Amino acid sequence: MRAITVYKTSIASVQPTAKKNGGVAMKRIATTVGLALALSSSAALAAESSEAINNAAAKVAVNLCSSCHGPAGNSISPTFPKLAGQQKMYLSAQLRALKDKSRSDPEAHDYMWGIAATLDEALVDGLAGYYSSQTPATGKPGDPALIAQGKHLFENGDDSRKITACVSCHGANAEGNTIFPRLAGQHAAYVVRQLQVIQTNLRKSSVMHGLITELKLTDMKAVAEFLQSK
Ligand code: HEC
Ligand code: HEC
Repeated sequence: MRAITVYKTSIASVQPTAKKNGGVAMKRIATTVGLALALSSSAALAAESSEAINNAAAKVAVNLCSSCHGPAGNSISPTFPKLAGQQKMYLSAQLRALKDKSRSDPEAHDYMWGIAATLDEALVDGLAGYYSSQTPATGKPGDPALIAQGKHLFENGDDSRKITACVSCHGANAEGNTIFPRLAGQHAAYVVRQLQVIQTNLRKSSVMHGLITELKLTDMKAVAEFLQSK
């Protein structure tokens, strides 16, 4: 599979710092616990009501996902994206992409492939519903000059470099909409990492890839600082 070859050849070049926050042991434990939890709940879920699915999803979220994504999806470490208040449709699309391994950047592979593989369709939708209905934490203050630079890029893009204004898809308050993810309040380091893996095509995004080819690391850091502050 092409995606896996790309992952193997380029893992060394992508953000080694992201590894510091989550040890291999933690990943293994989480995957094992996830397997047990998801398998037992998914068997029980068959043909059950949506209330039962919601309850099962909340249980998995609290007992498993929160170990990395934080309580109610407000994670502390920037290795782990915040999920609280994220768009439901985006969340279920990403869980499916992690499950079928089409989202194949190194962190997706290392942390999420094993867990996502254990989630059945009902649980995917239940978890997307759970996280989309949690209250997002308020933004974090940052470097005012960098924030101003990032805000300008977010709202206007840069015609001379064919960078489309982010606002046109991600919303005036970076709140997202359906398949367009919420970016407001997201960890800056996570945002930079995603822009890098999308730019290098490690994470395939037919929508985003062509729009950010000219985005420099300094632009990424500025727009990420702005988004984190929202
Ligand atoms: C061992 C740590 C860990 C656990 C446990 C974990 N995740 Fe993740 N998750 C991550 C990391 C790291 C990423 C970022 C992947 C990347 O950079 O591509 C991620 C990414 C995601 C994303 C994509 C977010 C986005 O903004 O695109 C979703 C959705 C997600 N996880 C849901 C879950 C759910 C639901 C569970 C529980 C069933 C869970 N995760 C459990 C570490 C974890
Ligand atoms: C034409 C619509 C569009 C524009 C313009 C756009 N995006 Fe996106 N963006 C998307 C979509 C759709 C996704 C979800 C990834 C996918 O499935 O393609 C995404 C994903 C992302 C992600 C990953 C979020 C996560 O939680 O993992 C980041 C970060 C991001 N965009 C930042 C930006 C920035 C910064 C700009 C402006 C420079 C921008 N986007 C412009 C549509 C757009």
